[in-house]
Amino acid sequence: MAATSEKAPDTRGLAGQTIGDTSVCSVNQTQLIYRGYEIADLAAHATFEEVAFLLLVGHKPSPAELADFDQQLRSNREVSEDILDIITGIAAARIASPPGGHPDSLHPMSILQTGVSLLSHADPECEDNSPEAEMRKSIRLAAKIPTLIGACQAGRDNRERHAPDASLSHAANLLWLMTGKKPSDIAAKVMDISLILYAEHDFNASTFTSRVIASTNSDMHSSVCGGIGALKGNLHGGANEAAMDMLSDIMNDTADGSITVDAWMKKAFDEKRKLMGFGHRVYKNGDHRAGILRGWGLKYCDQVDPSMKKWFDLGDEVQAIMLRDKNIHPNVDFPCGMTYYSMGIPVPQYTPIFVASRVTGWCAHIMEQHANNRIIRPLAHYAGPELMSWQDS
Ligand SMILES: CC(C)(COP(=O)(O)OP(=O)(O)OC[C@H]1O[C@@H](n2cnc3c(N)ncnc32)[C@H](O)[C@@H]1OP(=O)(O)O)[C@@H](O)C(=O)NCCC(=O)NCCS
Repeated sequence: MAATSEKAPDTRGLAGQTIGDTSVCSVNQTQLIYRGYEIADLAAHATFEEVAFLLLVGHKPSPAELADFDQQLRSNREVSEDILDIITGIAAARIASPPGGHPDSLHPMSILQTGVSLLSHADPECEDNSPEAEMRKSIRLAAKIPTLIGACQAGRDNRERHAPDASLSHAANLLWLMTGKKPSDIAAKVMDISLILYAEHDFNASTFTSRVIASTNSDMHSSVCGGIGALKGNLHGGANEAAMDMLSDIMNDTADGSITVDAWMKKAFDEKRKLMGFGHRVYKNGDHRAGILRGWGLKYCDQVDPSMKKWFDLGDEVQAIMLRDKNIHPNVDFPCGMTYYSMGIPVPQYTPIFVASRVTGWCAHIMEQHANNRIIRPLAHYAGPELMSWQDS
């Protein structure tokens, strides 16, 4: 019989494998759905607070439910000064005297992970995995993470911290804590949209990590710390920072005309480099979130600083070459980099902002895991040496 030449699918990284049920989110080639609502519908008509409620509680909030939820988010933003002092102190020390020789040798994501771990020590319900306690902890985590991000940025900027402002929306408060400026309506709106787009994505690497940790009966803060660790990498959430760094490199390297964008990219392809902000495990024909965020990023530039449009023009050129030569589309992290950069947000805070949003998705999954738990413990195919005798070898 003739041998078949068909290549076996590459299943490394669990590619193409469905490994469990969820009611939180559905991701397929054409749609991203949070608990029955399509992402474009949510981005057009909902706020981040509404989406957070939807993910955590499971249904669209009534006006009374939303008012109560929003109030809980606003009233839980404070973090004790001793925790904030540690976060600001680590960030300031690393900027002043980085052990690895580079100011970002301890990344804000690592500092944020430390911050969430510290929050667990101060949370009276840390070890309580009941549904009621987990809902309260989800709200506390979502409310306090922007305060930790602000404390970290204060250390990086060597300035006083700003206190959370309960009069501001979740998105506006996050911007205020990070930048020390009360955001314009358009800045708060664009941040709100990005938080909606980043909130949930079924069994992505960080959510899966959180669920694995939760499945051992560990607590919500531990599971979120694990999620932060997984999100940090540039193949996952870290891609929004990496995409902006890459665009800056292209802008600088092509500025004097000695090399074109086309040539820059050909070199990257020849060196087999991955271009950050492109490609996706599920979306092979484009990420619906990318177009939505690009549109809002451009709207921000139009209203606030048209000179920043140069980043979107460069992005369009890179995107066109990537599609022409590799047939690979941008993911949401590509326009995110340009959008946050145009808004003046420091690049190392892009992935922590992702955490400020995705924590709602993680917590929804942690609660779902605990509600119907069996420890996640897959098998491995052994590919090591044959059995040997210790004494004879
Ligand atoms: C997202 C990502 C991790 C998905 O990984 P994956 O599902 O394992 O994708 P694959 O490795 O199967 O990609 C298929 C092919 O496209 C190539 N490819 C995928 N993304 C690429 C990218 N960003 N730049 C260049 N080539 C890319 C791969 O090298 C591979 O080529 P090959 O068949 O010649 O080896 C991957 O696309 C990537 O690394 N992107 C850059 C990081 C990023 O933006 N991450 C954020 C994701 S939301």
